[in-house]
Amino acid sequence: MEKITITLNVNNESHEVLVAPNDTLLEVLRDQLDFTGSKESCGEGVCGSCTVHMDGKPVRACLTLALEAENIEIKTVEGLANGDELSPLQQSFIDHGAVQCGFCTPGMLMSADALLNNNRQPDEATVRKAISGNICRCTGYAKIVHAVAHAHNPHQGCCDCNHKE
Ligand code: FES
Ligand code: FES
Repeated sequence: MEKITITLNVNNESHEVLVAPNDTLLEVLRDQLDFTGSKESCGEGVCGSCTVHMDGKPVRACLTLALEAENIEIKTVEGLANGDELSPLQQSFIDHGAVQCGFCTPGMLMSADALLNNNRQPDEATVRKAISGNICRCTGYAKIVHAVAHAHNPHQGCCDCNHKE
């Protein structure tokens, strides 16, 4: 299959890549651009571990063709931190013990980040809806939900962590 050169804008930088028509965005991000934070688990749109943003909306990178992502702003989990400084959401995951094996975490963070960009203080029901497409096999979700709800809404006596935005 003939390959073509396209430009992908990832985390505010442009990259020229040579892609086949059936290459997924996830394959190109991981294998060509070394953004290995996005994980492949099911590879068929079910688990959410590959979630990235396209123009601010969470999408499954395993179901998205790289060609569809040309000239769209793509954000991966690597784009959340500011240099060495974690985002409040990332720090909240740590402070609330929301990471176990961590395989689901990049996708969870990207779904949660999309929510928080529109609603900085969601209630827990809203968080659960936003991450309903992300499967975690480890945590039972309670700590993840709490970490998202309190990323920008730290302590109101609901738990004993020291999270500060
Ligand atoms: S790897 Fe994309 S949804 Fe599971
Ligand atoms: S922390 Fe292991 S799958 Fe979620």
